[in-house]
Amino acid sequence: MAAANTLLERLSIDLPIIQGPMTGSDRPQLAAAVSEAGGLGMLGCGMRSPQAMHEAAAAVRAATGRPFGMNLFVLRAPSPDAATVQAAIARLAPLYADLGLAAPEPPTRWCEDFDAQFEALIAERPAVASFTFGLLTAAQVARVKREAGSFVIGTATTVAEARAWAEVGADAVCASGMEGGGHRGSFLDLGSSSQIGTMALVPACVDALTIPVIAAGGIMDGRGITAAQALGAQAVQMGTAFLACPESAIGAAQRAAMAQAEGSDTRITRAYSGRPARGIVNTMMERLDPHEADLPAYPVQNALTGALRRAAAAQDRADHLALWAGQGVALARALPAGQLVQVLAGEWERARAALLAQNP
Ligand SMILES: Cc1cc2nc3c(=O)[nH]c(=O)nc-3n(C[C@H](O)[C@H](O)[C@H](O)COP(=O)(O)O)c2cc1C
Repeated sequence: MAAANTLLERLSIDLPIIQGPMTGSDRPQLAAAVSEAGGLGMLGCGMRSPQAMHEAAAAVRAATGRPFGMNLFVLRAPSPDAATVQAAIARLAPLYADLGLAAPEPPTRWCEDFDAQFEALIAERPAVASFTFGLLTAAQVARVKREAGSFVIGTATTVAEARAWAEVGADAVCASGMEGGGHRGSFLDLGSSSQIGTMALVPACVDALTIPVIAAGGIMDGRGITAAQALGAQAVQMGTAFLACPESAIGAAQRAAMAQAEGSDTRITRAYSGRPARGIVNTMMERLDPHEADLPAYPVQNALTGALRRAAAAQDRADHLALWAGQGVALARALPAGQLVQVLAGEWERARAALLAQNP
């Protein structure tokens, strides 16, 4: 974040502020507004089809000529056995009934085809290509750099994952602390030992790597950006803060839940998707959490709860929605994204100056 910030130079952006990709909740207008204001807007493409990826990238390019990023889940389609799927459906049936819906049928496919999404990303040549939930091979990283010219960011929740990304040739690592909203990006160990706070994870990654580290998790304002800088991060990635912007895709029920929530109202759960993720506690989480150990892994549980969550959104019912949010949720401000970036930049300058004044 200092003048010699290699990350900002490489990305041709003015501010060390990345809008976290938010699959299902970001929109092209959100990414475009952040990029236009001097940060880096991102499109979470984990659940976008290749066609939807092309359309979203075109929409960002129509709104801004500035760099932006695209993010994918590194994921293979699973083949769960029928008994596992039926048990998961039976567990969800009462929740579907709450919304007046029949229990779901197993879908024809559990997730988007990663290989097809990967080709779509390469064809779009975004300035930044970021990845979560898994690790690319060195050959795949080299291909993204060579053919798309993208700057490659890998998501890590432990130092071991950060090292793994550095070894396959990533340009930077996003060190994602357990405070953050939405899914944990863990891929070596999905257990609680991968739930490390940003304050501990970021400096450990900075010390272990020679590539830039981006801090994510719990960063909501200029104080947080300054703190991340002190830990050695070259930029921050913020999700929950941008989720509250009017340009995000969340509905009124989720906005209202966010506006009332404290950090202590959030917890990490596998209830909605089968993968650990942080959200605001609600009825659905409380009803499914006692069965956590039995829930099928992502993306099976995610696909089976999809229709329920869509119906809850349509009915404006926060009790059956996945209310993704981080521990910093109470600090979220419902400002237009471009304005939020400007406010963050001003707060960051003031926080740095205040720190220097305290410790000249
Ligand atoms: C609703 C939501 C969806 C998210 N989806 C993705 C995603 O698709 N890919 C990804 O790498 N990170 C995803 N994240 C993580 C964010 O990009 C970011 O790293 C995280 O929110 C930072 O923590 P914070 O919420 O405390 O700011 C998501 C976060 C939220 C809140």
